[in-house]
Amino acid sequence: MQESIASLTAEIATADLSSTAHLDAFRISYLGRKGRLADLFDQLKTVPAEEKRAVGQQLNALKQLAQARFDGAQQAAEAAADNAPANPNFDYTLPPVPHALGTRHPLSLVREEMLRIFGRIGFAVAEGPEIEDDWHNFTALNFPENHPARDMQDTFFLRNSELVSGELVSSEVVSGEEQKTHQSTNSPSHLLRTHTSTVQVRVMETEPLPIRRVMPGRVFRNEAISARAHMMFHQVEGIFIDEGVSFADLKQTVYYFVQELFGADINIRFRPSFFPFTEPSAEIDITCLICKGAGCNICKYSGWVEIGGCGMVDPAVLENAKIDADKYSGYAWGMGIERIAMLKYQIKDLRLFTENDLRFLRQFEAL
Ligand code: DAH
Repeated sequence: MQESIASLTAEIATADLSSTAHLDAFRISYLGRKGRLADLFDQLKTVPAEEKRAVGQQLNALKQLAQARFDGAQQAAEAAADNAPANPNFDYTLPPVPHALGTRHPLSLVREEMLRIFGRIGFAVAEGPEIEDDWHNFTALNFPENHPARDMQDTFFLRNSELVSGELVSSEVVSGEEQKTHQSTNSPSHLLRTHTSTVQVRVMETEPLPIRRVMPGRVFRNEAISARAHMMFHQVEGIFIDEGVSFADLKQTVYYFVQELFGADINIRFRPSFFPFTEPSAEIDITCLICKGAGCNICKYSGWVEIGGCGMVDPAVLENAKIDADKYSGYAWGMGIERIAMLKYQIKDLRLFTENDLRFLRQFEAL
């Protein structure tokens, strides 16, 4: 053992460490976990007890020597690399390469613009969770259990924290009241929200009246991805609840919004429709921006395109949120951000928003 230590000490003290290849070889053969020093440390077990202490000290000293030689040589190699002579032909008067700053995503631009427009008439922003329960996505919004209206939006459900798509077996659906007291994360009735109307319910449940809110967010539906549909998209929801609110107020708000966003020459049309949470309900159409109303394949030759839904909040929804429907009334709307961005920028394929193709993204406003 003593001899091995002596000869190894000599080897380590004189080893050639003049290149990185040498350094590597040195590290592996002496310092590595399977190296020769490790070997000797293993053999320490076999040394008689009275010698162990002395041999142990020698081994430690040897290890320190090896480490010190290695560290010193490595530092020297790094310093040498740093001091390598710079390219003598480099022109220090060249202007610097500017940092590429990127651009804002078209969906962010449109969302910010929408929130700014509504903000100017007093609508403050609220947000809610993307994983929701049945109560906020459906039941409180007056979608009766087992009612076909639930199929208007193909839902991703969560069961035992696992995502399952398609229909939730109806026998597993619990009532709204039960749901409210039963909010475990493993509840079979958790889902990815299919619309931002969930946040209406949350603000009505928690905020003092009057309520005037815009609620942007991401929503999910179980749809095949194509130029016209995606399983993930964005909406801006809005709600106003006070005493004596009428459909005329809703119409004014929509007119104001559309003209601020698209210009005064755009026509607006309310088309009677159905949503479980509004009565009466309407769909909002505006002049097709691609053909200016003349008719094209985007508007299916009608001259109109839909940008969202709206209506007077159904009294049943107010009552679900414990708001006195005899005293208060309100309106609400929900609009797709992608849809509006497509019209504004004449984008013909929804998939462009999520593909992160720089050739597409660079066309938008620089940061
Ligand atoms: N939540 C509806 C949807 O995603 C849109 C909507 C319609 C929202 C009418 C509303 C409303 O607030 O009043 O299809």
